[in-house]
Amino acid sequence: MSTRNFLRTVAGLQSSIRNVTLSSEQYPGLVRGRYGVISDTDIQAFNNILDTGRVLTDTDELEGYNVDWLRTVKGQSRCVLKPRSTEEVSEILSYCNKQRLAVVPQGGNTGLVGGSVPVFDEIILSSQLMNKIINIDEDTGATVCQAGVVLENLDTEVAKHGLMVPLDLGAKGSCHIGGNVSTNAGGLRLLRYGSLHGSVLGVEAVLANGEVIDCLTTLKKDNTGYDLKQLFIGSEGTLGFITKVAISCPTRPKSINLALLAVPSFEGVITVFKNAKCSLGEILSSCEFMDTAAMECVTGQLKSQSPTILHHFTIYVLLETSGSNSNHDEEKLNQFLENMLGTGTVTDGTVAVVPSKQRDIWQLRERVAESLLLDGYCYKYDISLPLSVFYNAVLDMRKRLGDKMIRCLGYGHVGDGNLHLNVTTKEYSKEVHDLIEPFLYEWTANYRGSISAEHGLGFKKRNYIGFSKSQPAIQLMKNIKQVMDPRCILNPYKVLPD
Ligand code: FAD
Ligand code: MLT
Ligand code: ZN
Repeated sequence: MSTRNFLRTVAGLQSSIRNVTLSSEQYPGLVRGRYGVISDTDIQAFNNILDTGRVLTDTDELEGYNVDWLRTVKGQSRCVLKPRSTEEVSEILSYCNKQRLAVVPQGGNTGLVGGSVPVFDEIILSSQLMNKIINIDEDTGATVCQAGVVLENLDTEVAKHGLMVPLDLGAKGSCHIGGNVSTNAGGLRLLRYGSLHGSVLGVEAVLANGEVIDCLTTLKKDNTGYDLKQLFIGSEGTLGFITKVAISCPTRPKSINLALLAVPSFEGVITVFKNAKCSLGEILSSCEFMDTAAMECVTGQLKSQSPTILHHFTIYVLLETSGSNSNHDEEKLNQFLENMLGTGTVTDGTVAVVPSKQRDIWQLRERVAESLLLDGYCYKYDISLPLSVFYNAVLDMRKRLGDKMIRCLGYGHVGDGNLHLNVTTKEYSKEVHDLIEPFLYEWTANYRGSISAEHGLGFKKRNYIGFSKSQPAIQLMKNIKQVMDPRCILNPYKVLPD
């Protein structure tokens, strides 16, 4: 489904940008690094690299680039740079490195951990104009493009060649493929197509000193030395600026079915998932869930049409199948559903075969994030947990917060063991924040879960990395950062702990 609609709704919150507290004020203990302060000479140097209109310095124009999608962090950058080519990125970074000017790479600015906006006055290096698709190989599916191509546009283009991008997420109408790779975004179909660590074939990136690292191979197999591209995947702009991506696009399925099921308990969700893997195996392409509170939020806040199967105290499961033979796929799905209804695991359900109806159902799941923003302030968590304890995180959090919050709800990629636990209040409350953190991280670490399953650490979660990684592992990450960005100009205050 297109995200344009809901991003428009969020644009309606534009006035709220002004009310977001500056990160430098909200985190008073945080000290600005000893970086240069941008001067008129620097602006002139950037104007020499980029032609008119690609060096933004107007305060009003900069506002949207300085604030994150969640309206929770805000920087004070005085300059946005919009290169078109790898060479321009290289010249810019080489200059910034010499002057020790800090830089934050930015794609579609849909990141959810405060990684894509400045903390202080870092220069914003945007991939907005790096939006060329370079090659689509119909035979192999290998697709090469610049980092700033919007995910949805890339998918539309490869669709003309019978292919699909193996990544899909609610922000597809705004996020850039470079941003997706930099965050190692997971999304709605990771269950079927795997992570970007598997489907990205090659990356071209520019290091902090301006050096271009060309690992832009389109080969499936290439065991020549260390696989450097993997370092850029998921490093959230702290090791280099990704300029080009080569990604393996699978064949677009001919037949897609989507089922929205009502399940009375979370145990039932596990049974549905286990049976779906068994009975739908090769055609299962997504297994998502949302609880009643999530369904009520999205339908109530966004006035979306409720599904005909809206019940109280139900968990909703979305099961998608993608295959090549609609008769075969429908028969399999119907048999599976009969079985689940027969045993009482599923109490109600609806199956969509028509694309427009499928889009309506997907919107309910994809727009939960947006609907939460309308409450005021959203505390967003993204954890990996064993399925046996998965939903207890939501139940325990609800008990802990009592009536201090508006809502506490759970949804996410249950097929990947990835829970999105969200809490809302009218405005930011330190009391609520302190009740959630570090409690939830300790809770997660107790079950050897991950405190960030797919959104990354960015600015907001970096100091909690120790709940998911050992000290020697963190030290090795710091050593890698030191080698690749010795003057620490790329996305400071992000990913690695203070
Ligand atoms: P940005 O937000 O601009 O940047 C994200 C990070 O990557 C920052 O640290 C930034 O510095 C860095 N970066 C960006 N571009 C580059 C580059 N060219 N080179 C180096 N570093 C770069 N995430 C998921 O994993 N799964 C989901 O299902 C999902 N759904 C979402 C739904 C909604 C409604 C929203 C708002 C977000 C969702 N996200 C999801 C989070 C976010 O969309 C993804 O992380 C996305 O991949 C970010 O892409 P972007 O272009 O917006 O990057
Ligand atoms: C999703 O799966 O909807 C996204 O990761 C966004 C979110 O966590 O809210
Ligand atoms: Zn998600």
